[in-house]
Amino acid sequence: MADPDAFIRCMPKAELHMHLEGSIEAELLLELAARNGLRPRWETPEALRGAYRFRNLQAFLDLYYEGCRVLMQERDFYDITHAYLRRAHSDAVVRAELFLGPQSFTERGIAIEAVMDGVLAAIRDATRNDGISAGLLVSAQRHRSEAEALQLLDAVMPWAEQIAGFGLGGAEVGNPPSRFARYFRTCRERGFRITVHAGEEGPASYVREAADLLQIDRIDHGVACMSDPTLVRLLAERQTPLTVCPLSNLRLNVVPSLAAHPLRAMLEAGLNVSMNSDDPAYFAGYVNDNFIECRDALALSDDQIVTLARNSLTASFLPSAEIANHVARLDAYVADRRLSAAPRN
Ligand code: ADE
Ligand code: ZN
Repeated sequence: MADPDAFIRCMPKAELHMHLEGSIEAELLLELAARNGLRPRWETPEALRGAYRFRNLQAFLDLYYEGCRVLMQERDFYDITHAYLRRAHSDAVVRAELFLGPQSFTERGIAIEAVMDGVLAAIRDATRNDGISAGLLVSAQRHRSEAEALQLLDAVMPWAEQIAGFGLGGAEVGNPPSRFARYFRTCRERGFRITVHAGEEGPASYVREAADLLQIDRIDHGVACMSDPTLVRLLAERQTPLTVCPLSNLRLNVVPSLAAHPLRAMLEAGLNVSMNSDDPAYFAGYVNDNFIECRDALALSDDQIVTLARNSLTASFLPSAEIANHVARLDAYVADRRLSAAPRN
């Protein structure tokens, strides 16, 4: 019997919201710990995976930052980027935009050169070997000060030509986007694209701030906007891209079940939504798992699935000519599948 998920698995798509630190599978995490002479609290990958049960975003972030401690040398940053991009390539991801938060490492005395050179070398190699297009999104942590975010921006300027954009992640409630207005303005003045986590655990007003105050290019998550119909209309009118991560929202108790996730309602409201994995190793789901599980839980149509993929490509930070090429490939893929599914006479 044909694989019912093959259409999703082989469909060209972009992944725009994925944290490299959240992509380290338990086996690799323990391997990196051993390489760096660390003794983690867990002895086996199974034991480590057993800890992946989270009450909320902060409970997850506590473990995620602990996991970051295994990354110490340039080679470690290379290896995690390489592993994710191989996996993404096999999931038909043609463009990946990868968040990384250097502050977790520089605060421990790890040189910014090790972080940036490791990730960027793996991106170059993956493009050469697999043809996958990838870009780095440097992310500031919102539980720290705006001054530290600005220091981070300065620290990565030697790699400016190789940075796809800047973002903001971490503990959301109590740290609204407006607290980082100067950071985002400075990013824009320096010619960078910007994206901000908003409306994951935080309220719709944080999404509004992101849309109104910051002139952002994308919003990460944004699901809380659904409680404010006026805001939904504004975001739909502007076609502001929202990078939604349903399995992440399920695992962090943002929604009680996938069937209760607002993804389908967001599509039906005309919002520009894409599908993403956020932290796939911790949330037991890469981008195709998100597509497949949401299709089943929310009865998404093939057209809605293709819309999610098209939005991921058009919302990427690639130049418009490259976006057009990727969209043409997606359209050809869909037309080809429709042709082979049509009855013959
Ligand atoms: N960093 C990694 N995953 C995150 C999430 N789900 N929300 C905010 N910051 C993050
Ligand atoms: Zn995220």
